[in-house]
Formats: sequence, structure tokens, C-alpha cells
Amino acid sequence: MKVAVIGAGYVGLTTALSLAYVGHEVVGVDLDTDRVARLNRGELPFYEPHAKEMLALVRERLHFTARYEEAIPQAEVIFIAVGTPSLPDGTPDLSQVRSAAQAIGRHLGEGFTVVVNKSTVPVGSGNYVEALVRRAFREAHGGEPDGRLAVASNPEFLREGQALHDSLYPDRVVVGAEDRRAIEVLRELYEPILEQSFAPPPFLPRPERMGAVPFLTTDLVSAELIKYGANAFLALKISFINELARLAEKVGADIREVARGVGLDHRIGPRFLQAGLGWGGSCFPKDTAALLAMGREYGLSLPITEAAREVNFSQRNLIVDKLLAELKTLKGKTIILLGLAFKPHTDDLRESPALALAELLLERGAFVRAHDPVALPRARQEVTLPLEYAETPEEAFQGADAVVLATDWPEYRTWHWERLRGLLRTPLVVDGRNFLDGKALSAVGYRYVGVGIPALGILSKVEV
Ligand code: UDX
Repeated sequence: MKVAVIGAGYVGLTTALSLAYVGHEVVGVDLDTDRVARLNRGELPFYEPHAKEMLALVRERLHFTARYEEAIPQAEVIFIAVGTPSLPDGTPDLSQVRSAAQAIGRHLGEGFTVVVNKSTVPVGSGNYVEALVRRAFREAHGGEPDGRLAVASNPEFLREGQALHDSLYPDRVVVGAEDRRAIEVLRELYEPILEQSFAPPPFLPRPERMGAVPFLTTDLVSAELIKYGANAFLALKISFINELARLAEKVGADIREVARGVGLDHRIGPRFLQAGLGWGGSCFPKDTAALLAMGREYGLSLPITEAAREVNFSQRNLIVDKLLAELKTLKGKTIILLGLAFKPHTDDLRESPALALAELLLERGAFVRAHDPVALPRARQEVTLPLEYAETPEEAFQGADAVVLATDWPEYRTWHWERLRGLLRTPLVVDGRNFLDGKALSAVGYRYVGVGIPALGILSKVEV
């Protein structure tokens, strides 16, 4: 099928890549001409595992343009996958969705076209998009597009760092639309993914025991609410384990064991029960804020979602408290932050708990030295905090007073911690993700402090 994808961010680009991979002809539209030129040269605008290889694989079926008229008229399906960043009151900024919908209206082709919203928008926005497309069509052409246009919502559940995997091997595909034809078109579009009939790319094997993918069809607003429901539930699952971790610390329990025991109940499930510094990123903070804003619009309070945010944003203070308890003061101390991105396998710094923590440490008079396997170039451009950046473990550790692990990058497990210890002024590790091997670290002389787990080792000053 012929597909247009508006927006070449994480969601749009992943959608374009995976649909091209399963055989569709895709044009990606982005108003950023520099980004378009780079993509057409095979360069990615951000770090995402396998996206570059995939871009090379699908070259013949995917190209990018900054001109709507090159993509919209011939498309049978048009995805809107533009950014919807939060406004100060928590509501999403829909200006990019608006201008995409208007452009679609101006350039709508002759055939039946399904306009699909993949951006996370407040419930009810599908109708708004349809109204905008129709209005722009009327202004440009006079008359109504009538039977040629249908609008659908197709929420995206991909995780950054695993975006292509999640697109090709999703848990479900959700489509909401009032028009049956739209649902049928999208079923056909997704068929290779629903049936898993495509040959997996060599770098992304199909998970074992992967069967057919459930295709859930709903009305428009239910699909829109599913996206918020899924994200808010995952966010509160993490906040719940973080709340329990606070209690675990008081009573002397180990939250990792507690999470394992709780998660083995099939009704609960083991994932997203990893206690630590809390959640960040482009989705959970924004979507929980939008959910609260939607509730307010209808005079409804959503206390569970509110509490999930409150617990989450106070997690960072707990890490500061742990440092204070060990070091007594942070003034003039050099703290190493391992990981700046909001999670591993991405260079995305949006709402990163690591950066929020850095800010708290700086406020307390500490120097913050940051390391990240892939996010440093982006941090140098985007972060305005006065951070020091370290490219190597040695550079990071030299003369520092504590190490805080903020992002669970696998490579941190493999560092030569014993050798590095000698470079520190005080061998203290605060593991904000309960990720490192605390026993092994304390065995080589570190004081190891996690979140909701018993601390190990004693803190001894090293003469450097
Ligand atoms: C999330 C949803 O998972 C995805 O379905 C949706 O489409 C977009 O939002 P993403 O933000 O990419 O994806 O990352 P995710 O893997 O969900 O992690 C979000 C945050 O939660 C990260 O900061 C991560 O470190 C944190 N997290 C995750 C925990 O603190 N504990 C956990 O157990 C899991």
C-alpha cells in the first residue's frame, strides 16, 4: 500500500521503517529539511538500535521529503506522528497535529484515504483532526471530501531503545475508528505484522513463541484512552514498587526479592517492577500530566495517577538523601553520574531522571561529572546545566567522591570497578537502578547503597 508518515521522530520514523520493511511504499514527511536530507543519505537523527541498518535495508521503499504535496495526494494511509510536547498546564501542545491535519486537507488525493493519528493526543482529538482536515479541504477545493476520507486512531506502544522490535513484534495493534472501511484498510496494512508473515530482519529475530498479534478494534475515543491507560498503568506500577521500596528499606527487606515474589503472580506480572530513580522520558511524564489535565477538564480528580507522579518525582530526592547520609555534605564534592539518558539504549534526554538529579546535586553545591555511552554529544548540545562530561571511566572517576548510577546501561556492569576504585576519593556507589553487583563491589572495597535494598560494605577514605 502507499503510505505517508508525517513526522520523523521516534514514532514516525519507526512506523515508516517497519511498514516499509513489511512491503509498503512509504514516504516520510518532516518539515525539518536538514533532517530530511540526512535521512535520505541514510543517517539517523537520533540513536536507536538497528534503525540505521533498517534504513539501509528498506531504501527502495522509503524516502523522505519536506513537501506535503510529494506524499499526501497518492497516499492510501496517512499517519500523523508529530510531537505533542506538554504545555505548562500539562495539556499537550497540538500545534504540530493541527498543521499536519491542515496540510492533509489541502493536498488530499482522489482515492479513499485513511488519516491515522499515532501522536498521543487528548481523548476526542480524532474528531478534531477530522474537522481540521475537512475545513482545510473546503478552503482549498470548495465542497466536501465526503466518502474519500476517514479518520482513525492507532496508538503507538513502542519503547525507545527497542522501538523497531516493538513495532515488528507488538503485543497488540489497536485501531479505533467510526468508519468500518478505515478499520479494514488498517487491517490490510498491518496484515504482515498481525500474521507475522514477514521474514525477520537478521538483526531482529522474531521472539520465540511469538504467535499472531491481536488486532483490537474500537471506537475512536476508546483507542485514544487505551494509550493513556497503558502508559499511566505502567508508570504507576513503577511508582508502586518505588513506594514499597521505601518501606522495604525501613523494615530491612530487599525490594528485588519482594518484586520477584509479587510479580510471579500472573495477575500482576514481573515487568516494570524495578525500583530505582523512577521514570522519565517523552511519554510517562507527559501522558500522566495530560491524563490529569483531561480529568480536570471534566471536573474529575485522578488521585492514583496523581500519586504515581508524586512518588516518581520525589524519588530523586531520596538519592540525594542517601548521598548526604554517607558524605554528610555535598558542597564541593564531585559526584559522578553514570548515565544521562532517561533509560539505556537511547540518547533521549527528555525528562531524564538523571538530569533532574544532577540539578538537585548542583543546587546542593556539588560538582556533577556525567558519563553516558551514547548521550554525551546530545547532552553537550541540549543540556544547559553546568555539568562536566567524562568520555572514559578513568576520566569520570579521577578524584571524585561518589558514583551514582542513574541509567542501567549494561556496559556499566562490565567496567573494571576494582581498578577504578583507586581513582576515587571515597569509594561510594549509590545505585539508582539496583543494577550493579553490590556484593562484588563491596568485596573490592566499595560502600554500596541501592534503593530499597540493604546497603553493603563500609565507607573508607582512600588517599589519592
Ligand atoms: C514507554 C512505554 O513503555 C511505551 O509502551 C510507550 O509507547 C512510550 O512510553 P519508553 O518511555 O520508551 O516507553 O520507556 P520505558 O521502557 O517504558 O521506560 C520508561 C521509564 O521507566 C524509564 O525512565 C525507565 O528507566 C523507567 N523504568 C522502567 C523503571 O524505573 N522501572 C521499571 O521497572 C521499568
